[in-house]
Amino acid sequence: MMTDTVKIVKEFYDKSVVVEWERLQRHQFEFELTIRYINRYVKPGDKVLDIGGGPGRYSLYLAAKGCDVTLFDLSSANVEFAKEQANAQGVSFKAFVGDAREVDSLISEQYDHILLMGPLYHLLQESDRVKALP
Ligand SMILES: C[S@@+](CC[C@H](N)C(=O)[O-])C[C@H]1O[C@@H](n2cnc3c(N)ncnc32)[C@H](O)[C@@H]1O
Repeated sequence: MMTDTVKIVKEFYDKSVVVEWERLQRHQFEFELTIRYINRYVKPGDKVLDIGGGPGRYSLYLAAKGCDVTLFDLSSANVEFAKEQANAQGVSFKAFVGDAREVDSLISEQYDHILLMGPLYHLLQESDRVKALP
């Protein structure tokens, strides 16, 4: 069940898709540094689950790299935007709406790598953060 704080987080991200999309354009250093670390471990063909993937910057990059990507995010508006970007860029990935605390019951496949960049700092209770660890 969605608690009030998670509901507030969802509403915030549903309303700020473009701001979130543009964030990593404004903060290119963050994107480049994260990609540098991701590329140390993630190879073309790997299966990657991007929990809290938002508008999809990392999912798009990894799909273009040849990975089998699944984006999972609380915000339906972000997930729709990510799918539109994938279509526009001619890449494909699976994308689902859901709460990271329920990811175990919603996604049953196995992955080579899991990105969890977002949900942990939005979940205030330790017990909730533990549930978000697949
Ligand atoms: C700041 S954005 C980060 C987007 C991307 N991962 C990145 O690093 O640029 C945080 C994302 O986490 C998502 N998020 C927050 N709490 C979540 C939860 N409980 N379950 C799934 N996604 C969540 C938000 O909807 C938002 O898209």
